[in-house]
Amino acid sequence: MAKLGVNIDHVATVRQARRTIEPDPVWAAALAELGGADGITLHLREDRRHIQERDLRVLKQTVQVKLNLEMAADPIVTSMACDVIPHQVTLVPEKREEVTTEGGLDVIANCMRIKTCMEQLVNLGIEVSMFVDPDPRQIEASHNMGAKAVELHTGRYADANNERDQDHEFEALVSAGAFAIERGLILHLGHGLTYRNVQRVARISGVSELNIGHSIIARSIMVGFQQAVREMKDLIR
Ligand code: PXP
Repeated sequence: MAKLGVNIDHVATVRQARRTIEPDPVWAAALAELGGADGITLHLREDRRHIQERDLRVLKQTVQVKLNLEMAADPIVTSMACDVIPHQVTLVPEKREEVTTEGGLDVIANCMRIKTCMEQLVNLGIEVSMFVDPDPRQIEASHNMGAKAVELHTGRYADANNERDQDHEFEALVSAGAFAIERGLILHLGHGLTYRNVQRVARISGVSELNIGHSIIARSIMVGFQQAVREMKDLIR
């Protein structure tokens, strides 16, 4: 069964809207664990629009499941990751103007920057996953670079607005996932997954981890955080 990584960024988005101390993503992480989360995911962005350095440091001390830090392959955040040592780093592309991570990382075009960052992380025993589009060239490059896992971007599957397009994007995920597993990579999926579209991808052969944020946070406003996580976990199960 795929594990559920709960992305708590948008708890911090609400806090930062008022630059106050609540809601605290540290509390949300604890409730996510009580709801059955197998991991806590957070993205420390260069513009610090939601998660702050303090959140990462406190979560490292309090989270008892896997702590997955999403970050750009940037020297400042890499040195922070090397100081905190999360269990896993997921390397993502980052653009200031984007609302959320819009596409997968171009591992081929950014190989030197990624290599420098990865060497430091891997030397400290941090597992590195690459967030890439379901594209065999990017998966192959991630493998050659020494990544332990790839997280395939499920955005195009999630955003498809008719059944035919969704089937097409689903097949792309299935074949890219099989390709990753053949290469010995651990398979993660994430982005845009919701209570409505998660079950199909949770059944993809060999998928080990699903990272889900916005949909869980949205439901949590209505039903509470622990319950929202539990409902997602039940669907995956
Ligand atoms: N995985 C990665 C690599 C992401 O960047 C994000 C968004 O921060 C997610 C998963 C979660 O996406 P969503 O909030 O759409 O569930």
